[in-house]
Amino acid sequence: MSLKNIRLDVMRYLEKDIDTLIEKYLVPIDTIWQPSDFLPNSESDTFFDEVKEIRELSKDLPYDFWVVLVGDMITEEALPTYESWLMDVEGVDQVEHNGWSKWVRQWTAEENRHGDVLNKYLYLSGRVNMKEIEKTTHHLISDGFDIGTDRDPYKNFVYTSFQELATYISHNRVAKLAKARGNKQLAKMCKIIAGDEMRHHMAYSDFVDRIFKEDPNQMMMAFHHMMKAKITMPAHFLRESGDKISSAFEEFSNTAQRIGVYTSMDYIDILDKLIAKWDIGNMGGLNTEAEKARDYLMKLPSRMTRIAERMTIPENSYQFKWVEPAKL
Ligand SMILES: [Fe+2]
Ligand SMILES: [Fe+2]
Repeated sequence: MSLKNIRLDVMRYLEKDIDTLIEKYLVPIDTIWQPSDFLPNSESDTFFDEVKEIRELSKDLPYDFWVVLVGDMITEEALPTYESWLMDVEGVDQVEHNGWSKWVRQWTAEENRHGDVLNKYLYLSGRVNMKEIEKTTHHLISDGFDIGTDRDPYKNFVYTSFQELATYISHNRVAKLAKARGNKQLAKMCKIIAGDEMRHHMAYSDFVDRIFKEDPNQMMMAFHHMMKAKITMPAHFLRESGDKISSAFEEFSNTAQRIGVYTSMDYIDILDKLIAKWDIGNMGGLNTEAEKARDYLMKLPSRMTRIAERMTIPENSYQFKWVEPAKL
């Protein structure tokens, strides 16, 4: 049997449990939070006072903070790219309405609230240039992405296991920074988004765990492939209006590193966590190729730490069109 057919078989086998997995990792619509739970109610008489408060509190947060929040929001807003990508993965079939397409749709529906709530908050904050942000989002969705996973479910689930944890870390850190500056409302909002990301991470890493039990050699090769190539961030084609795809993503990621929202040490931490979660070090009964891949993966965190320790982050902020320079 070809590798592709084995993958399809494994996906079909795992699909039997999809309803249980949805119940375990996703939250029913009637009980989950919605963006309006964290935003002023425009039907209420107190709306303008609440907006005023948001605008006042926003003044206490620095330039780099807004850049990171905007970049995080734009990354969330490129959700159409992620959904269409996942729908095209082998084993996911929206024509047949199979279990995996049900998962992708329900996951998308949960994720959609993240960009929605952040977008509305940023709009009310008075600290950012919405038109420039919208143009970047427009570009990012038009440009798509290239995450090196092919249509392979194994590689895609490694990618999503990694990314969901990365977004958990960054939303959670933004929440902490907002809280430290006395902005409880924004902190609560980012914390609840982080909670969703953690649930999604648990789900995707559970899928990988199950695949390891069925097809350990090829799952190991997929993990090895993704980590050797390095996980590309979903917004790596980020650009500002009038620019070609160039250094915008790098500058955004420098900003996130500078304020400690997402650093290269976090990348290594995530790798460590995935290795532990899937118990890579103790995985036996592999073929020679997969054994080599396992050994490579086990050495990777310390190798990457040595490189990360030598990296320096520019101290000065890069001026994005999204945020006006210090309005304080
Ligand atoms: Fe998200
Ligand atoms: Fe997510």
